[in-house]
Amino acid sequence: MNTWKNSTTKERIKRLKQEKDAVILAHYYTPSEVQEVADYVGDSFYLSKLASTLPQKVLCYCGVYFMGESAKALNPQKTVLMPDLTADCPMAHMVNLEQLNQLRHQYDDLAVVCYINSTATVKTYADVCVTSSNAVNIVKSLPNEHIFFIPDQHLGSYIAKQVPEKHIILNDGYCPIHHKITAEGILSQKNAHKDALVLVHPECPASVVELADYVGSTSGILDYAKTSNKKEFIIATEDGILYELKKENPDKVFYPATENQICPDMKKITLEKILSALETMEPTMEMEDSFIEASKQPLLRMLELSK
Ligand code: 13P
Ligand code: SF4
Repeated sequence: MNTWKNSTTKERIKRLKQEKDAVILAHYYTPSEVQEVADYVGDSFYLSKLASTLPQKVLCYCGVYFMGESAKALNPQKTVLMPDLTADCPMAHMVNLEQLNQLRHQYDDLAVVCYINSTATVKTYADVCVTSSNAVNIVKSLPNEHIFFIPDQHLGSYIAKQVPEKHIILNDGYCPIHHKITAEGILSQKNAHKDALVLVHPECPASVVELADYVGSTSGILDYAKTSNKKEFIIATEDGILYELKKENPDKVFYPATENQICPDMKKITLEKILSALETMEPTMEMEDSFIEASKQPLLRMLELSK
């Protein structure tokens, strides 16, 4: 979109937000121009907590499908506008329900711990949800010894290392974007930028996590870069985070760990789609009451345990 068209679209979005009593929430992986028009930008945990505290009747959620489902489940009385309902996270579906049922029979005390990056249907099978920013603490705090962690094998194996006292059983899901970040990529960037620190999202494979100076959620990575007195960083997560990293730290330099760390689904959210959603009040996230009730229980438990 050209700059002139961009700025009139932004003006119209701003006007419509007021007219429709709407607020725009965006994940750090959405395109820069989306983050620019958002009222709040954050990681999955921040956004899921925040939505319930906002007075506006309409939440315009710039993120993927499971994020909209969580926002709707926690705020059923609000209209949840999704600028692109086809923006979906492939990992959210990667759960082996057969294995889950078999493990429930095998271990009396099994806790099914579900990464928030999962569909609402998957959440109905879970005891508690976690995000990458609270997963280790929540798993530590559970009384259960046997944990089936779904869907992300990499976040699961990171937690298993941090909480060795528990028996953590992994499911074989993964985020296709983080999964293809390699140790070789990091080492070659380290070779080129000897002073740079390596900041890694726990959705990356263990071989990448091992090379990290810091491992954390998107907001954890942002906080770390901001408070560090170092000037150069290698970033092993989706490239959308670079917008906020550069904005917050104009004196620092950030190198992506590999080429094309891009989530095509997050990039489906555009200014035109936000504008159209606010104009037409469509598409919206719709869920049956009983489905909301079942899928929100593990989310509520997460919010309770992370207080
Ligand atoms: P966080 O924002 O919780 O770090 O999640 C990363 C992610 O993959 C969201 O899709
Ligand atoms: Fe899913 Fe990965 Fe995209 Fe996040 S970055 S929405 S986990 S595919």
